Amino acid sequence: MTTPVTVAVTGAGGQIGYALLFRIASGQLFGEVPVRLRLLEIAAGRAAAEGTALELQDGAFPLLHSVDVTEDARSAFDGVSAALLVGARPRSAGMERADLLEANGGIFGPQGAALNAGAADDVRVLVVGNPANTNALIASAHAPDIPAERFTAMTRLDHNRAVAQLAAKLGVPVSAIDGVIVWGNHSASQYPDLSHATVNGRPATELVDEGWLADEYIPRVANRGAEIIAVRGSSSAASAASAAIDHLHDWVHGTGGHWTSAAVVSDGSYGVPTGLISSFPVRSVDGRWEIVPGLDIDTFSRERIDASVAELVAEREAVRALGLL
Ligand code: NAI
Repeated sequence: MTTPVTVAVTGAGGQIGYALLFRIASGQLFGEVPVRLRLLEIAAGRAAAEGTALELQDGAFPLLHSVDVTEDARSAFDGVSAALLVGARPRSAGMERADLLEANGGIFGPQGAALNAGAADDVRVLVVGNPANTNALIASAHAPDIPAERFTAMTRLDHNRAVAQLAAKLGVPVSAIDGVIVWGNHSASQYPDLSHATVNGRPATELVDEGWLADEYIPRVANRGAEIIAVRGSSSAASAASAAIDHLHDWVHGTGGHWTSAAVVSDGSYGVPTGLISSFPVRSVDGRWEIVPGLDIDTFSRERIDASVAELVAEREAVRALGLL
């Protein structure tokens, strides 16, 4: 039998965890490889995670080797090849941004250290819990022995929303669309960019007008999370889990000739300060994300990328000031 791959999911008792774990157990992440699942929770979420573990057993997944629930990050991350960091501290009423960053620093710093202590050499980390980009930065800073390229944050849901909204506008299947990019932070400042996108091979910018792009499309994609909360009564869960699977699946198996969007550590490309974890157009080649080089950036795009990156810089400065980096 093939050696099992070990995958940790934090916040496993939460709603994204519930949608995510069954898909990992069914082999949608690594393919036909047995999976050992580690579910990390805090005391408040432990019972929910235990219940999910029982249901995973009831799924009788042929590829599911084992499921362990723990509150100890070191045990959860020991030998992991993939870590999906979903559990985070949500913003509560009256909480300032600095308080939110500090509370999450208290989660992602120790989790980064635990990954550093015990993760497998091939570990891939995807941070979903918000503020995802900066949480990933904090985790990476506490894992000096793991290459920074292994720490990523999820903007794939934003990318998928950007593709789906364009497809809906033009009445085409999502498979007709290529070359969409989401830049910057996973927040309302993100920039969904259609300037390189094609629809059945035609430039998307020939098919939609600038007014729709600026006044409807960009805000719709950027604020889709709020729209889901307003309609569904709770935040995106299955779509977020699906995007997490897409991100890790592509990272492991490659993106072929196409690109997608992911928040990865900047090498200074496109004027994004080195070391920030920002969303870029990326291809996965030989198991590594590569930032797509050399795309022309027009003035409209430049302003929006700069605004979102400025927010990331401010978050980095705030967590530095708190001593979290
Ligand atoms: P949820 O509240 O249903 O579940 C979160 C779980 O995390 C809870 O069970 C909680 O007990 C657990 N948790 C909290 N601190 C923990 C810690 N230190 N270690 C382990 N577990 C911990 O939330 P949901 O809906 O599952 O969302 C999770 C996160 O994902 C949130 O931060 C949310 O904002 C974020 N999110 C990010 C998206 C993205 O595109 N990057 C999209 C949607 C949600």
